[in-house]
Amino acid sequence: MEKTDVSSQVLTQLAVKIMLVIAALCLGALAPSTWAADDRDDAGARAAFLKAYPVFMHPRCLNCHPAGDAPLQGDDSLPHAQNVQRGPEGRGRYALKCANCHQAANLPGENLPPGNPKWHMPPPGMRMVFQGKSPGDLCKQLKDPAQNGGMTLEELIDHVSHDKLVLWGWDPGNGRSKPPSHVEFVDHLRTWVKKGAACPE
Ligand code: HEC
Ligand code: HEC
Repeated sequence: MEKTDVSSQVLTQLAVKIMLVIAALCLGALAPSTWAADDRDDAGARAAFLKAYPVFMHPRCLNCHPAGDAPLQGDDSLPHAQNVQRGPEGRGRYALKCANCHQAANLPGENLPPGNPKWHMPPPGMRMVFQGKSPGDLCKQLKDPAQNGGMTLEELIDHVSHDKLVLWGWDPGNGRSKPPSHVEFVDHLRTWVKKGAACPE
């Protein structure tokens, strides 16, 4: 009699444990920022990030993500003319506010300011520097919510897919060069995230 009690107790405990494991698995599948363990592939993730990297280093992107406090300009990424500076909100200083010269759309013609309704650079408290970053350092920075503007990896994919300043890179006006394919850039970053978002060394 006592024996049966013990074994049924053990069985109940086992059933509870199995249920907990199943619940945990279900929750894991629902959580948006997890990926199936099967998809994790560190070498594949690193390779995919390396394919996306040249776009971040392209002048159309780098010029607004400089190491210093002046935006850069042109394909040789020289400091912005007229000593334009980042300013307290990334929108310039005093009379040299970005929006004073940069309009809602590109102005047609040589050496005229490119445009976009939200033209500005990252603020001093969240500088999002691309210039001079190795693939490994850039990868870690992009993954870090404290350095990427508080984004999850899904939000980061959404940003590079739809953000108007990102898209401007492929519609830069005035004969400016464009980065490699936007569609492939987003695909590489999706693959990087899907395979577990490991960073190159
Ligand atoms: C006109 C300036 C400007 C240009 C050009 C620009 N960015 Fe940005 N970028 C910003 C600003 C400002 C932010 C901060 C978020 C915001 O305000 O939209 C940002 C944020 C980002 C972020 C998210 C934060 C991070 O670093 O993790 C990514 C990724 C990014 N940009 C990628 C690009 C890429 C890729 C290009 C080129 C195709 C590009 N940007 C071109 C201004 C720019
Ligand atoms: C006094 C006017 C003026 C102000 C203020 C100004 N810009 Fe510009 N900007 C220009 C002009 C003109 C160009 C085009 C230069 C060219 O093509 O030779 C330009 C080009 C740029 C480019 C280069 C685009 C590329 O990829 O080659 C970036 C980036 C840029 N500006 C960012 C900014 C930011 C960010 C601010 C505010 C912090 C700002 N600018 C403020 C006039 C201005």
